[in-house]
Amino acid sequence: MQLLSKLLIVALMASAMFAKTYEIKFSHVVSPNTPKGKAADFFAKRAEELTNGQVKVKVFPNSQLYTDAAVMKAMKFNNVQMAAPSFSKFTSLVRELQLFDLPFLFRDVDHLHNVMDGEVGQILKDKVTAKGYVALDYWDNGFKHFSTNGEQLIKPSDAEGQKFRIMSSRVLEEQFKAVGAIPQVLPFSEVYSALQQGVVDGGENPLSNFYTKKFYEVQTSLTLSEHGYLGYLVVASDRFWNKLPDDIRKKVRQAMTEATEYERKLAAELESDFLKKVKEYSEKSGKLKIYKLSADEKKVWNKAMSEIYPKFYDSIGKDLIEKAINTK
Ligand code: SIN
Repeated sequence: MQLLSKLLIVALMASAMFAKTYEIKFSHVVSPNTPKGKAADFFAKRAEELTNGQVKVKVFPNSQLYTDAAVMKAMKFNNVQMAAPSFSKFTSLVRELQLFDLPFLFRDVDHLHNVMDGEVGQILKDKVTAKGYVALDYWDNGFKHFSTNGEQLIKPSDAEGQKFRIMSSRVLEEQFKAVGAIPQVLPFSEVYSALQQGVVDGGENPLSNFYTKKFYEVQTSLTLSEHGYLGYLVVASDRFWNKLPDDIRKKVRQAMTEATEYERKLAAELESDFLKKVKEYSEKSGKLKIYKLSADEKKVWNKAMSEIYPKFYDSIGKDLIEKAINTK
C-alpha cells in the first residue's frame, strides 16, 4: 500500500514536470497601478495558480511591447496573445465599437454596464470575433474629463480653436469639431510630451490615466465633465486561444472572469482616490485649476456634442445606438 502511494506521488510529480506549458504575453499601454494594470497582474497570478503553473502570463505595461495601434496586428500573428485596448482603438477593425465613444451616451455606470453586459455588448463582441479575435470581457476605466493649458473649459465655446489629443476614433474627432476645437490623434505613449511641448493644448482622460501618467504636471486646468466613457475590451489571439487544450482554456477563462470582477470593483473604488490625489496636487502646487461642471452646464455640452449622433447612423448603426440608449 505504501509502495503504491509512493509510486502515485512519483507519477504525479513526473507528470507535473513534463506537463506542457503555455506562455501568454499580455500587452497594455497604461501604468501597472491603474485598474487595468492591476487586473492584468491579477489575471496573470490566477491563470498560473489555476493551471498549476502550466500557463505563464507575462504582463507588459506602459506600451513596453506594443502601442495600441500595433497590438491588434501583433495578435493576429500570435506575437502577443492578449491585450485590453480601449474601445476607440478598435475603430479600423470594428467601427461599431465607436458606440462607446459617443458623448453623453451613458446615464451612469449601471446603464453602461447594462449596455456592455447585455445585447449590445454581445453584438459588438460577435463583430470582433468575426474579425478573427477572441473577445473576452469588458473592463472599466471611467468617465472622461477635459484638461487643457488653454482657456479653462466651462462652456463649449471655451474649446474653440484649442487642440485636443484624441484616440483614433472618428466619433472623438467629430465630438471636438462640434465645439470648434481641433482634434489630433496621438498614441497614448506620446500624450505627456505632446502636452508638455504644446503640440496639443489638452486632452480627455479618465482620472486614473490623468493621475498615473502625471498629465496634471503639464496641464493648467481640469474640468470634471464626465462627457464620455473610456473602457476596454479584453481580446486574445484566436491562433493561441483555439490551440489551448480544453481544460487549460477553461481555467484561463475562469481566471479572466475573476479578473473582470476584480477590475470593475477596483475601477469604482480607485476613482475617488485618484480625484483626491489630483485635488491634493492642485492645492499644493497651485498650478492646476479644477472646475466641476454643474448639471446645467453639462446639459449645454451635451446638446452641443450630441448633435454628432446622426453622422454615425451608417457606420455604428442607428439601431445599435437606439438599443444602447433604450437599455434600462
Ligand atoms: C488606455 O487607457 O488604455 C489608453 C487610453 C488612451 O489612449 O487615451
